[in-house]
Amino acid sequence: MSTNSNELLEHFRTYLETFEEALVRGAVARIGWDMPARPLEPHGLPCLGYLDRAAELAPPNARPLARFLAAHRNELRWGQTYNAADFGAEFLTRYGWLEVFGTRGPFVNDEVAAGLLILGPGIVYPDHHHIAEEIYIPLTGGTEWHKGDSGFHVREAGEVIHHASNVNHAMRTAKEPLLALYIWRGGPLAQKSTIPGTVAQGRG
Ligand SMILES: [Fe+2]
Repeated sequence: MSTNSNELLEHFRTYLETFEEALVRGAVARIGWDMPARPLEPHGLPCLGYLDRAAELAPPNARPLARFLAAHRNELRWGQTYNAADFGAEFLTRYGWLEVFGTRGPFVNDEVAAGLLILGPGIVYPDHHHIAEEIYIPLTGGTEWHKGDSGFHVREAGEVIHHASNVNHAMRTAKEPLLALYIWRGGPLAQKSTIPGTVAQGRG
């Protein structure tokens, strides 16, 4: 496996280990970190341009991971699950994710999936839900997050956001991009999200 994938996993784990929250500590403890590698071809996306700003915005504990992603963006396999018919073509220029481990990332894990999500400024990632429980940790602040019956609330970098199974959630970026770490567990790890009122499906 390439040095870069190993470094990616190391930065990812090191960042997670800076958190004291029981939810994060429990998740980190349950991950079997000695995962088999899965060689992947790199795949770029338009949203990768936001990584430079994200690396500037990231607080000290998130900076090594954010800088690594910015520096090695072209060597990694970035993905999208939505298409232009879901949220429009503009959304696709500002959205993408990188699975670090799971059923399709550079490390194989059938129990838990984790990676990073990028959203560019000024977009809405509409309500969606999925069976898997999800933990999000934004590496950049200023994005509004919504879940369940609550309204949108600005979340700062390093806040731990928990989406229980099948709870609707959404994000709305303001003038800065969002870079966020996600962990999926307890459900089908590559399941497409369900978007209320539509047949559109995606990831995250
Ligand atoms: Fe989600």
